[in-house]
Amino acid sequence: MVAEMALVKPFSKFNTSIPKIGSSGRLKTRFLSVKMSSTATPPPPTAASKKKTQKQEIQESLLTPRFYTTDFDEMEQLFNTEINKNLNMAEFEALLQEFKTDFNQTHFVRNKEFKEAADKLQGPLRQIFVEFLERSCTAEFSGFLLYKELGRRLKKTNPVVAEIFSLMSRDEARHAGFLNKGLSDFNLALDLGFLTKARKYTFFKPKFIFYATYLSEKIGYWRYITIYRHLKENPEYQCYPIFKYFENWCQDENRHGDFFSALMKAQPQFLNDWKAKLWSRFFCLSVYVTMYLNDCQRSAFYEGIGLNTKEFDMHVIIETNRTTARIFPAVLDVENPEFKRKLDRMVEINTKLLAVGDTDDTPLVKNLKRIPLIAALANELLAAYLMKPIESGSVDFADFEPQLVY
Ligand SMILES: [Fe+2]
Ligand SMILES: [Fe+2]
Repeated sequence: MVAEMALVKPFSKFNTSIPKIGSSGRLKTRFLSVKMSSTATPPPPTAASKKKTQKQEIQESLLTPRFYTTDFDEMEQLFNTEINKNLNMAEFEALLQEFKTDFNQTHFVRNKEFKEAADKLQGPLRQIFVEFLERSCTAEFSGFLLYKELGRRLKKTNPVVAEIFSLMSRDEARHAGFLNKGLSDFNLALDLGFLTKARKYTFFKPKFIFYATYLSEKIGYWRYITIYRHLKENPEYQCYPIFKYFENWCQDENRHGDFFSALMKAQPQFLNDWKAKLWSRFFCLSVYVTMYLNDCQRSAFYEGIGLNTKEFDMHVIIETNRTTARIFPAVLDVENPEFKRKLDRMVEINTKLLAVGDTDDTPLVKNLKRIPLIAALANELLAAYLMKPIESGSVDFADFEPQLVY
């Protein structure tokens, strides 16, 4: 999974126009709103209508899962064993063996429960389920594209690392495919080939890909496992069988995160100076805030499966932050109650921003109304960023890079 980092987009990108994904080719203005689903009632699944539903229109926004690209030449340099003596190839060989084992090869097998459960989901919950499947599918597919390209580009420089990337893209393709099959239960499907070509790609330097992707994988792990455990304890909320697959599924995400952890250890320059600390905190904040704002906009989904959205998110944030503290040189003090208060204020501001978009005002008036709200949101983000951080870092380094002990 590669998601939950949309806020990392620079603020200068606020309120710019980007092409709307879909068959219409129209442009839509984006802002702090998130919608990426078909809103039409699913038609009966005749061959013709099914074909028609395959082009789902996606309205992108600041918080929409994104597709990423990077500087592949720099990546090649970073993973060249002749240039980078920090590459612990024994560790990568071991990781490769683990990926080759392919623990989940036979895990993603559907049964008739899916369609039956989907048919029972009606009303607003049905729509919100579709949106959940679409967003998750896009995030998984985003990981597939990035890892596949890295696997291809690093083949000559570092075949071991390249093969791991390819095997991770295998996992993500499986996840995306499984979610897309889920959409077929609702007589819908994302046109992934179309998305690949039509979607805009966000560029991140390799260093930022490492921070952001590590966090996405770990936060993905904590989200999946938390939902799985909750539904195991509260089976009355088990309204769609996909959640039963999350236990093994999230182990894939955990492994992906561990691989990025090993990659970062091989690039100590990304972890051992003051800039690394500032960036680590920045990426943590971006990922946590993106998830919190996104989920609070969709609390009906979490309530639908018996979760309290904010409690669920705080649990995921705290656990992800604890995991991240093992490798990042600094993390946010998310367990300080002030952090949650700030997140809640951001939700309030975001709600007001969304409300502005829903009015009948002219675009100019809407933008004028947004200015103080954006300023307030930026202010909260900055204040959260400047909260006293937690110095962290990996004790594992003691064995293998003594100069990197924090
Ligand atoms: Fe995944
Ligand atoms: Fe993943």
